[in-house]
Amino acid sequence: MAPIDLIIDTDPGADDVVALLLAMASPNELNIRAITTVAGNVSLDKAARNARLAREWGGREEIPVYAGAPAPLQRSPVYAQDIHGDEGLPGVEVYEPRKGLAEGSAVRYLIDTLGSAEPHSITLAMLGPQTNLALALLQAPEIVRGIKEVVVMGGAHFNGGNITPVAEFNLFADPHAAEVVMGSGVRLTYLPLDATHQVLTSEARLAQLRALNNSASQRVVAILEAYIKADMTRYDLPGGPVHDACVIAWLLRPQLFEGRRIYLQVDSREGPTFGQSIADWHGALQQPANVTWIARADAQGFFDLLSARLARLM
Ligand code: BDR
Ligand code: CA
Repeated sequence: MAPIDLIIDTDPGADDVVALLLAMASPNELNIRAITTVAGNVSLDKAARNARLAREWGGREEIPVYAGAPAPLQRSPVYAQDIHGDEGLPGVEVYEPRKGLAEGSAVRYLIDTLGSAEPHSITLAMLGPQTNLALALLQAPEIVRGIKEVVVMGGAHFNGGNITPVAEFNLFADPHAAEVVMGSGVRLTYLPLDATHQVLTSEARLAQLRALNNSASQRVVAILEAYIKADMTRYDLPGGPVHDACVIAWLLRPQLFEGRRIYLQVDSREGPTFGQSIADWHGALQQPANVTWIARADAQGFFDLLSARLARLM
């Protein structure tokens, strides 16, 4: 099969970096056209630097990294230092990468690339707030034609929220952007906390990664060991989730996941349910399905895939 033409939109972020490394280690299946960055876990400049660091660690400096929106569509940025640390990358040394950013904004890149692409040819992996894609769609709605599919890490239904009792971080950070993307009619798949909280680290799984003994695996283990602590304590989990890497795993091995087409709405009204995903799993609202909602994941299958791919890196 021809590789998937892919743009990764991201706010690195510990789990974003694991996702980027998994993607960069999979060139036979994924043709990464660009990495576009957005304010989310950390400010835009830190997210863009961390994406460039991940690119350097993945040995893929030919992939352009663009910086996009410094803030959500309508609100001030909400950062997640409590989970990802002040630099957005806990457990490892953070420094200025060798190679700089690509020129021009991520939003312009999305408009130009999707606007000139073959119909339904490009997949987008959305690993943070969906601001960049929303801005591109608002400025040039016709670009929807170039998109094959949008795969989002976001939302929570069977699992509670992780930034409020009901909201997941990426949707809470910019629900208006999620609404724009959803309203565009693009084909959507959501990997919510329902699935990502099943894909947890364990001592054995970290040992499996550590045994690869290359720089990439050492970095991933160092990042994960530092990053998972907050979630394990807060949610009393036996291990930590690696949310964003599930999006890449889904693109590589969809058979590791189970879900179904449902109707989804995002709440963007101010109040206690701000940012909540209303996932109509049982079809109570009798609305046409607009997303594939992933509810189950094979955790060991995920870690076997991650190990096999990281083993290919330096
Ligand atoms: C999502 O929020 C961020 O903190 C993570 O990188 C992930 O994209 C999980 O809710
Ligand atoms: Ca993220």
